Amino acid sequence: MKCLVTGQSGLIGSHLVDLLLKNGHEVYGISRTNRNKIPGSRNFCLDLRDTKKARETIELIAPEVVFALAANAAEGKSFFSPIEISTSCIDTFFNTLVPSIRTRKLKRFVFTSSIAVYGSIPTPFKESNNPQPKDIYGISKLTAEKALKVMSQVYGFEYVIVRPHNVFGPRQNMSDPYRNVVTLFMNQILKNEPYVIYGNGEMKRCFSYIDEVVEIIHRCGFEDVAGMIFNVGSNLSWSINELSAAIQKITRSKVKPTYLPERVNEVQQAISDHSLLERVFGYNDTPLEVALRRTWKWAKAQGPQKYKFTRLELSHPHVPKNWKSRA
Ligand SMILES: NC(=O)c1ccc[n+]([C@@H]2O[C@H](COP(=O)([O-])OP(=O)(O)OC[C@H]3O[C@@H](n4cnc5c(N)ncnc54)[C@H](O)[C@@H]3O)[C@@H](O)[C@H]2O)c1
Repeated sequence: MKCLVTGQSGLIGSHLVDLLLKNGHEVYGISRTNRNKIPGSRNFCLDLRDTKKARETIELIAPEVVFALAANAAEGKSFFSPIEISTSCIDTFFNTLVPSIRTRKLKRFVFTSSIAVYGSIPTPFKESNNPQPKDIYGISKLTAEKALKVMSQVYGFEYVIVRPHNVFGPRQNMSDPYRNVVTLFMNQILKNEPYVIYGNGEMKRCFSYIDEVVEIIHRCGFEDVAGMIFNVGSNLSWSINELSAAIQKITRSKVKPTYLPERVNEVQQAISDHSLLERVFGYNDTPLEVALRRTWKWAKAQGPQKYKFTRLELSHPHVPKNWKSRA
């Protein structure tokens, strides 16, 4: 099949391209950077918020299956740069979907949403719950989800929505200062500098290794699951303090965390229900320690990375003190 992966240079996208190629598909990628180049796929480097360029490129590709992953998933940053984060989720989505429909070749559109759509409703979050996102990133993902359902009804293509959470592993962007807690901690350890924990560090997350997550997203492109929404990730929850202890053990580091005030509107318990995922696909976790070891081995090979701060759109007393760039 002719497949398009947007965000192919990112963590999930690059592993997905690998898997699609391994399964004999013709793979095209679009993303804003040239990180994680995968030989065998044809890649276009452009900003998908540019409607004209997106249209020209996607009409040229005429994909049958689209995996839409392009987004800046910085939920904490989304309060202080709402235009950047919302357009990276919504504009990239429409600028991918519309030309894909125009070519009349589109069979299925797999949209990568997020656990962030749920907000702080009681855990574990079920796909049938009424989402109540509490950050601009989650609101944007939910908007795209709703638009996708309506557009699918009108234009007759199939869709699948996945809501992953806390995915990590080799190829994660270590130079992003706003997200990716696992590799943020590892990068600081490589620099021999303290890493930051916000609040008391007792927020719970289910860390999910890339291999399992990407396999599910791949299967969503081809199996009999059209019109479904899946929570994707691990069942095992860890506090940020527990994650910190696990990373210290694996890296044998003496670098200690620094505690900064809680981040504004941060969800404390991000735990999804995976009964649907397990019933339809099955899901076997790589144990966290094994997954962290693999990621650490990769991170060490990369060496310490310089952070790429961007200018924030708004200033606010709650902008974390370790975010160097101000509005
Ligand atoms: N990693 C996670 O824990 C997680 C959890 C839930 C959902 N997701 C979603 O999965 C998707 C991929 O996440 P990831 O962790 O691989 O992210 P990533 O930051 O590693 O990669 C993001 C990709 O999107 C591309 N991109 C961003 N803005 C773009 C734009 N304007 N135009 C073109 N390309 C653009 C980047 O170039 C990159 O290739 C995102 O949609 C994210 O919201 C990720």
